[in-house]
Amino acid sequence: MFLSYQLAVALLTGAVCASPSPAPRAIYARQNQSTLQTSPPFYPSPWADGSGDWADAYAKAKDFVSKMTLMEKINITTGVGWEGEQCVGQTGSVPRLGLRSMCMQDSPVGVRDTDYNSVFSSGQSVAATFDRALFYARGLAMGQEHRGKGVTVQLGPVAGPIGRSPEGGRNWEGFSPDPVLSGIGLAETTKGIQDAGVIACAKHFIGNEQEHFRQAPESQGFGFNITDSYSSNIDDTTMHELYLWPFADAVRAGVGSIMCSYNQLNNSYACQNSKLLNGLLKGELGFQGWVMSDWAAQHSGTESAAAGLDQTMPGDVTFNSATSYWGTNLTVAVLNGTVPEWRVDDMAVRILSAYFKVGRTLDEPEINFSSWTLDTYGPVHYAASQGYQQINQHVDVRGEHASLIREIGAKSTVLLKNTNNTLPLSKPKFLAVIGEDAGPNLYGPNGCSDRGCDNGTLGMAWGSGSSNFPYLITPDFALSYQAISDGTIYQSVLDNYATSQIEALVAQADVTSIVFVNVDSGEGYIEVDGNIGDRNNLTLWNSGDDLIKNVSALCSNTIVVIHSTGPVIVSEWYDSPNVTAILWAGVPGQESGNSITDILYGKVNPAARTPFTWGADSASYGADLLYTPNNGEGAPQIDFTEGVFIDYRAFDAKNITPIYEFGFGLSYTTFEYSDIKISGSGVTPYTPTTGTTSAAPVLGNYSTIISDYLFPNGSFPRIWQYIYPYLNTTDLAAAADESDYGKTAAEYLPAGALDGSAQPKVAAGGGPGGNPQLWDVLYTVTATVTNTGSVDGEEVPQLYISLGAPTDPVKVLRGFERLSIGAGQSTTFTADITRRDISNWDTVSQNWVITNYTKTAYVGSSSRKLPLSIKLS
Ligand SMILES: *[C@@H]1O[C@H](CO)[C@@H](O)[C@H](O)[C@H]1NC(C)=O
Ligand SMILES: *[C@@H]1O[C@H](CO)[C@@H](O)[C@H](O)[C@H]1NC(C)=O
Ligand SMILES: *[C@@H]1O[C@H](CO)[C@@H](O)[C@H](O)[C@H]1NC(C)=O
Ligand SMILES: *[C@@H]1O[C@H](CO)[C@@H](O)[C@H](O)[C@H]1NC(C)=O
Ligand SMILES: *[C@@H]1O[C@H](CO)[C@@H](O)[C@H](O)[C@H]1NC(C)=O
Ligand SMILES: *[C@@H]1O[C@H](CO)[C@@H](O)[C@H](O)[C@H]1NC(C)=O
Ligand SMILES: *[C@@H]1O[C@H](CO)[C@@H](O)[C@H](O)[C@H]1NC(C)=O
Ligand SMILES: *[C@@H]1O[C@H](CO)[C@@H](O)[C@H](O)[C@H]1NC(C)=O
Ligand SMILES: *[C@@H]1O[C@H](CO)[C@@H](O)[C@H](O)[C@H]1NC(C)=O
Ligand SMILES: *[C@@H]1O[C@H](CO)[C@@H](O)[C@H](O)[C@H]1NC(C)=O
Repeated sequence: MFLSYQLAVALLTGAVCASPSPAPRAIYARQNQSTLQTSPPFYPSPWADGSGDWADAYAKAKDFVSKMTLMEKINITTGVGWEGEQCVGQTGSVPRLGLRSMCMQDSPVGVRDTDYNSVFSSGQSVAATFDRALFYARGLAMGQEHRGKGVTVQLGPVAGPIGRSPEGGRNWEGFSPDPVLSGIGLAETTKGIQDAGVIACAKHFIGNEQEHFRQAPESQGFGFNITDSYSSNIDDTTMHELYLWPFADAVRAGVGSIMCSYNQLNNSYACQNSKLLNGLLKGELGFQGWVMSDWAAQHSGTESAAAGLDQTMPGDVTFNSATSYWGTNLTVAVLNGTVPEWRVDDMAVRILSAYFKVGRTLDEPEINFSSWTLDTYGPVHYAASQGYQQINQHVDVRGEHASLIREIGAKSTVLLKNTNNTLPLSKPKFLAVIGEDAGPNLYGPNGCSDRGCDNGTLGMAWGSGSSNFPYLITPDFALSYQAISDGTIYQSVLDNYATSQIEALVAQADVTSIVFVNVDSGEGYIEVDGNIGDRNNLTLWNSGDDLIKNVSALCSNTIVVIHSTGPVIVSEWYDSPNVTAILWAGVPGQESGNSITDILYGKVNPAARTPFTWGADSASYGADLLYTPNNGEGAPQIDFTEGVFIDYRAFDAKNITPIYEFGFGLSYTTFEYSDIKISGSGVTPYTPTTGTTSAAPVLGNYSTIISDYLFPNGSFPRIWQYIYPYLNTTDLAAAADESDYGKTAAEYLPAGALDGSAQPKVAAGGGPGGNPQLWDVLYTVTATVTNTGSVDGEEVPQLYISLGAPTDPVKVLRGFERLSIGAGQSTTFTADITRRDISNWDTVSQNWVITNYTKTAYVGSSSRKLPLSIKLS
């Protein structure tokens, strides 16, 4: 998601963010069109069948859909238009059967665009905990808050972007460039959200790895003359072994909805890419829920229906166009025989299966807020200024979540350096806290719309993945409270450019300095300091490097805290002897100051691990972002030529030593690893899924009397710009009002694209997430981990596997666990190795295979500290 550039600028209240002035940019080199990557067709769109643990929900959905009329079904496939109702997206309703409009609401860190909600740590931060229980707890708490506001679908969690390039603006919304960590994050968060009775929406599917050029109109607003979204050109192996991997975990975890992204995949828009939606997601992964478009990411009507899209959001062709590819057009497309009824039935069944699967019932709580204003009274149909009533009940949904947020903030803080036990602090004599990143945004925590500025401490980054702070505990606030209670002298300078005042302060005797610095990024509809969503560089913002160097030149005990949306180049100062400690505190949410204080003072013993690699320079990461269009005014072409070699896999392959490797993080105690063992059956036979599906079910009849579909007479209100399923006239062509009306599917879709007869099953499929045998446990590795220090602590042993072929990464993460181990105690780390964990994608058989190369398991404390290894026989 999602805001047109124009709208975003309109929403930016105050002079907070530099509004980008469209400037002409260079003429771009054009790629030879004939070399453009293409996406193979996959039709027809697989219909849901209730497989896995979806049987009950599927049965309820089928029963419900059997009672629905055609227009009622279409009503739940189509949003009512931008700002048509209270949520960022809403479907039509089915009043006759008591189904209210479904509410789709951002964001992955809390309920967006409302009040009395919590702001949680970012996905990337929680990933750093390497703690499944916290992934789940955060998901559950966020789900409860969405539920309390009347939300049906929380638009999160995120694994696209996964983080191909560290500059990617939205990487912080997701978990990690490692697909296993990302997949476990996605799955556990999904379970948490859905256990709260809210449908999760895993997004953005797929290849949405940068903000620049994701939408042509937005790019044009920034002065780039392009007519189509960029194409992420991803090969089959890379797709399976990297980008699709976390989504497979989410599907296996029962995710109810998946959002297709703005970009193209292999030159076919993600929301109408049949290979992607029909082939990979619904065919191979056996996804039983529904595919929802990102906001205005739909680019066609019947084509997207045939290619597997199930719901269009927010429903209009462009925001407030009052037209839709679906709604009326979908009704017409069924009536004129283009889109078969079974496809619409399947859309509705998928939507309602997810609805019933998370335990929704028809008496779900009402929507008690409006995304478009915090005023108590206002128009419920905001775009139309119609339906004036109470629209905000200001329901406090925060519960006891503050303590969980504080805990996650501390448990996600990575201790990167700690010379001679500088930390934890214990009643230091004199504490100097330096940097704007320690203090408040002078405009208030919500002073910049959608957090589109970098003022004050970074508690959240910008875009639709944000939400309003109830409060924001700054580091300055929490640390001053701690220091004053301890009798410590406490002084802070919160202006990065007050150099003389800073120098005078930190040069005083016995000063411990803590310098707070940050890096921000976000979604591509907002530009901050010249960064159009994506970061322009990997260095600190607001002259952070100079700040650290100035302080550490005068103070031999300088502690650095970094808040950031990804890795930062620390080369200029990290190894200075005066920089005695470095911490990465991610994007921590509302309890930021309390969380960092808990770590700095040792109330929480750090154990977090960096969920990405810290390189010495940006070149060492390999995969670059595209900042200038490279295909004339056509779709920019982003070739993922690095394959699966992103982040640590790239560093390993090129033998580049990172500054801080993936999985690294220190503790206030020390650990030793010993005694690796392996057990298990070894490789057992794997059977490809065979056979055929049943034919597509057709649920109920629909009237073929066109006048039954006319806009209702009488008192039924017509809301301005609202998207309905009805027709204005019995002349279908006139009702559709489509310039090229009359084209038959045969003219633009392959034969059989709309065939509802039984189809062959996909060999690598067979259940939600893929062939169930992929999760067979073939081996179990154990190792002993001993706390050799003098304080209790937590440790994150990690299991990596070398798949052995020269074309494989040196090693890949396959298991981890956050263990609590008392001082002097030992515990056993156990990690199962599944068939999937040791398989490669085979492009010829279109299935997973275990190659004959020798495979090795490694256990240790980071991707480069792996003292134990054992061969898989
Ligand atoms: C479609 O949804 C709209 C908006 O919720 C509602 O007013 C209308 O009655 C619905 N139409 C049908 C046929 O259920
Ligand atoms: C965009 O590019 C096209 C094709 O090169 C050109 O015709 C058009 O004038 C350009 N538009 C702008 C606003 O530069
Ligand atoms: C039907 O879709 C076309 C685009 O394919 C659009 O131009 C037209 O306005 C739509 N009709 C309605 C009634 O929304
Ligand atoms: C750490 O402590 C040792 C022993 O006191 C001392 O020799 C060494 O210089 C210290 N290192 C640093 C970087 O301060
Ligand atoms: C807030 O941020 C904006 C842009 O990021 C900047 O121009 C402005 O000076 C900042 N204001 C304050 C008070 O920090
Ligand atoms: C990197 O970008 C930030 C934010 O726009 C800016 O403050 C900084 O000066 C840039 N660094 C370099 C080396 O240009
Ligand atoms: C470290 O700090 C001391 C002041 O305490 C200063 O004299 C020295 O030059 C600093 N060293 C470095 C490498 O900055
Ligand atoms: C249908 O009728 C409404 C009300 O007169 C009008 O606003 C709308 O533009 C019409 N749509 C089409 C496609 O003719
Ligand atoms: C059927 O309706 C759809 C949606 O308006 C339209 O795109 C298509 O051209 C129509 N086809 C025929 C054969 O009339
Ligand atoms: C492994 O080796 C066996 C025996 O040579 C061969 O039959 C099999 O096809 C090989 N498997 C793979 C995946 O290459």
